[in-house]
Amino acid sequence: MSLLEAKHLTKRFAVKRNLFGRVTEWFTAVDDVSFTVEQGETLALVGESGAGKSTTGRMALRLIEPDMGEVRFEGEDLLALDGPAMRKRRQDMQMIFQDPFSSLAPHRTIGEAVAEPLLVHFGMGSKERLAIAAGLLDRVGLSAAVRERYPSELSGGQLQRVAIARALTLEPKLIVCDEPVAALDVSVRAQVLNLMHDLQAERKLAYLFVSHDLALVEVIADRVAVMSHGRIVEEGPSAELFRSPKTEYTAELLSAVPRPVPRSLRAPATTLG
Ligand SMILES: Nc1ncnc2c1ncn2[C@@H]1O[C@H](COP(=O)(O)OP(=O)(O)OP(=O)(O)O)[C@@H](O)[C@H]1O
Ligand SMILES: [Mg+2]
Repeated sequence: MSLLEAKHLTKRFAVKRNLFGRVTEWFTAVDDVSFTVEQGETLALVGESGAGKSTTGRMALRLIEPDMGEVRFEGEDLLALDGPAMRKRRQDMQMIFQDPFSSLAPHRTIGEAVAEPLLVHFGMGSKERLAIAAGLLDRVGLSAAVRERYPSELSGGQLQRVAIARALTLEPKLIVCDEPVAALDVSVRAQVLNLMHDLQAERKLAYLFVSHDLALVEVIADRVAVMSHGRIVEEGPSAELFRSPKTEYTAELLSAVPRPVPRSLRAPATTLG
């Protein structure tokens, strides 16, 4: 059984309404999309801007209701769960966004932010949950001093580490990561990706990794699903897809990726001035 199984997911948004508020024009953002994510693996969802990646990721966690289709988590029909049952299930599935700052309350310390899910879900006492948060912050590479700070006092890379720690608090099985390193400097990007990779191995975490950056996906993904205009146009093991793309669309996406230049082909360093 797959950890996550999405079948025929479809979502359309209203783009035009008449004077009486009736929708006169719809836009289909996600159109009959199916995929699975296995325990401990990374499935990357790639494609151009507007392809429907984020909408698909959100539907997979039921953060948006699909208009049609099915989502199963460990075989359980997520869309059939009522409020309390869904809230309980949410412990197993988390999301990380491109902009971690917007998901953190400005007046709460970092330690409190990471500890908060333990209060919300288990009513855990302050001392106990802050101790767990401290351990998580330590694990994501943040010093003890960071616990007392506020989000506005941290760098983008530090904030994304905080968001990762917070996502781990309830020991989820799946994290949907929506462009998690797109806003970070290139040097910081690699560090955060390495951290995510280590955490995955350590905790048998599965990632649904949404990204428009194929160079990055080649490194992190086991399998890749390519989206275009709301549909999955190609899907396969990462290495295979990068070696021999089956569709023109994927080939084009790949050709736009800066590939590492072999050392022997690099121009010799020149001295200026
Ligand atoms: N709430 C909404 N109302 C109307 N249209 C929406 C809504 N959310 C998304 N869309 C539209 O649906 C399409 C898919 O959006 P989505 O955010 O899923 O794309 P994406 O692949 O994540 O793009 P990007 O790489 O730019 O993040 C886009 O055309 C977008 O404008
Ligand atoms: Mg998006």
